[in-house]
Amino acid sequence: MVGEEEGNRSARSVLFDSTDPVVLRALRRVADSAGLRVLDGASIEAPDVVVVDLDLPDAIAVVEQSRRQFPLAFIAGHLGVPQRERWIAAERAGCDLIASRGAFAAQLVRRLPAPGEARRRRVRLAESADLPGRIGLVAGDVATPCGPVALYQLRGILLAVEDVCPHAGATLSRGELTGSVLTCPAHGSQFDVSSGERLRGPADCAIRVFDLVEEEGSVYLILGPDLRN
Ligand code: FES
Repeated sequence: MVGEEEGNRSARSVLFDSTDPVVLRALRRVADSAGLRVLDGASIEAPDVVVVDLDLPDAIAVVEQSRRQFPLAFIAGHLGVPQRERWIAAERAGCDLIASRGAFAAQLVRRLPAPGEARRRRVRLAESADLPGRIGLVAGDVATPCGPVALYQLRGILLAVEDVCPHAGATLSRGELTGSVLTCPAHGSQFDVSSGERLRGPADCAIRVFDLVEEEGSVYLILGPDLRN
């Protein structure tokens, strides 16, 4: 990661994984007024904000690594030409904001949480030691600030979804899982746990899918201050 040190220590710190000159120029212009302090790439300080150039080939891995390393940071990515697949992959990897490079600085300033404002929150769902060899449901009906959540492991990927059926409130993790398709035990609605997509009614909407981070031997649900991911 590259960058430069400037500004005062009370400002929100920003770490760049971008060398895009358009973005860097725009961010330098707004840094002071937005209370941003650019970190040196060698800094050991945990950044408040990480900026990633999503056009770089390894960008998604960088977002994933940043999310693991700095679970409370606001991660923002910019794209030269918005591509849907890249956009979705970046969101799933943990980006809080994705914007085109021309609009990026303005959107970042607008979307950043105010200094001192609670950002993302962690809720422990399971212990990492419990995961090896587990396929399917790992933990169900886990109480969180945003309601019950279930944790699944499919093909080595951890997935956390809302554990309440939107049709009539049944506990979904008591239903049957076939591949990634979860069937509600009450009236048979089906959902894809990898995306939350509703596949069959009577439920008429998708279920929520949450961001996760694995850190210090535990798996955490990550929520924004408004309890959305
Ligand atoms: S409660 Fe799930 S389908 Fe009715």
